[in-house]
Amino acid sequence: MQDFNYHNPTQIVFGQNRFNEIDKLVPKDANVMITYGGQSAKKYGTIDKVIKALGSRKIVEFSGIEANPKFETLVRATELAKQQQVTYLLAVGGGSVMDGTKFIALAVLKPDSEYQDILSHGFAPVPQKEALPLACVATLPATGSEMNGFAVITLNEQKYPMFSPEVYPQFSLLDPDLTLTLPKEQIANGVADAFIHVIEQYLTYPVNAKVQDRTAEGILKTLIEDGPVTYLDNNNIEARKNFMWSATSALNGNIGVGVPQDWSTHMIGHEMTALFDIAHGRTLGIVLPHLLRARKQQKHAKLLQYAERVWDIHNGTEEQKVDEAITKTEAFFNSLDIVTRLSHYNIDEQGIEKIISNLNKMGMTALSETQDLGLDEVRKILLSAL
Ligand code: NZQ
Ligand code: ZN
Repeated sequence: MQDFNYHNPTQIVFGQNRFNEIDKLVPKDANVMITYGGQSAKKYGTIDKVIKALGSRKIVEFSGIEANPKFETLVRATELAKQQQVTYLLAVGGGSVMDGTKFIALAVLKPDSEYQDILSHGFAPVPQKEALPLACVATLPATGSEMNGFAVITLNEQKYPMFSPEVYPQFSLLDPDLTLTLPKEQIANGVADAFIHVIEQYLTYPVNAKVQDRTAEGILKTLIEDGPVTYLDNNNIEARKNFMWSATSALNGNIGVGVPQDWSTHMIGHEMTALFDIAHGRTLGIVLPHLLRARKQQKHAKLLQYAERVWDIHNGTEEQKVDEAITKTEAFFNSLDIVTRLSHYNIDEQGIEKIISNLNKMGMTALSETQDLGLDEVRKILLSAL
């Protein structure tokens, strides 16, 4: 196992009917900005519940943070927060709203000429010592944004990942009832996203990190078991709870400490969303099976472990077990109606060149756990996904 530091300051409030606890968690004198997306949070009554829980605190609302949140929208929110002297941000929504709110938390303390600087550090921490405090009411289990310091912001058809230890939510309310209004395809997106978050921290090469590996395998098995149940059945609240906590646990840092990581699928997928507007989880579903087939040799030991421990494949040669595990992974996505082919989205060889060019512009030219995955090989992987 590699050395690591681990600190996650986010308090999780998990369960049904716990909205009134927001009152205890937000400072009494806070001047709160509630941020949300299109209309779902308003339409389904979540915003009303939040406003009620906040009691007599001064509140300003900012709606319209779109899926794959845009820099320009967040600049408008930041200006409003400055104008209203907001002291606390409460994000109500999925990954896009939570991510966008993290950007606002940093931008509010900067002059407008420096907003863009926040997006110029990649995965290195944004060099800013302070942010406005923020918290989340998570309505979509998927990204893990409710318990991490990451965000992904869209600017000029590029997705910019950012990280800051200052933007971990102070608390996040995870109420499985809030997910009952999700369209089915968003459940599928969330299952795929959470699954692939685990895969990108687990399917690399062995470093004898037993706790991380077995926790990762437990999350994967839970998603395989309860993801499809949640997708198909709106009444199984226990499956939904397990899905929700799986998504948070997949990207709260716990399974990623002390192990090599490979975020290639995400980096390629992000550019597909930016260019072709395909939902995040779905882009990952397209890339991963083809990437695993291309990277079988480099990932052999972990793929074998994955086959045996996650998919319970015990017969056949090592090669056969690995192949069967990849086939089962792809079939799992397909069972959620996630199509794992680029042609389904009308992306052809020209489209692939655009993805490659975007990756190049972003400096993503040496991907994988050992930085040996160059753009020529990414092109081959995408061609095999046509
Ligand atoms: O805008 P509204 O009307 O709220 O509709 C949203 C949105 O259209 C809807 N929705 C959310 N909760 C709902 C609901 N509809 C009905 N009932 C509910 N309870 O769902 C749609 C998608 O929401 P979005 O927040 O975009 O989805 P998701 O949570 O998958 O977030 C995706 C974003 O997160 C980033 C992605 O790149 C993408 O921008 N990621 C963030 C990460 C992080 N912070 O750690 C890591 C991820 O890998 C990912 O990159
Ligand atoms: Zn993701």
